[in-house]
Amino acid sequence: MPKITFIEKNGEPREVDAPNGLSIMEISHKHGIDIEGACGGCLACATCHVIVKPEWFDRLPEKLEGEEDMLDLAFDLKKTSRLGCQILMNEELDGLVVALPGAKLPWA
Ligand code: FES
Repeated sequence: MPKITFIEKNGEPREVDAPNGLSIMEISHKHGIDIEGACGGCLACATCHVIVKPEWFDRLPEKLEGEEDMLDLAFDLKKTSRLGCQILMNEELDGLVVALPGAKLPWA
């Protein structure tokens, strides 16, 4: 099973199982990680915002129209910010690392 590591707000990494086909937002909910996802994944909020570890950023699927606009509303926006509901897990993303907004980034 693929894994994702979430960098929590306190800077601690947390590696969790990340079933194929689930979004980063859904995976965070399964493991009680503090990502809200208020709109349920329909690109109408920015509360599923995550900051992707730079080396992973170009390996993610392209943004859909609308994601960039929503991201503009996100707290703690960074160059590698994405919406967690828009990235679906697959084997190629095994090992992905994302940080919660506000976290001290271990790679910064
Ligand atoms: Fe609302 Fe992702 S959950 S945009």
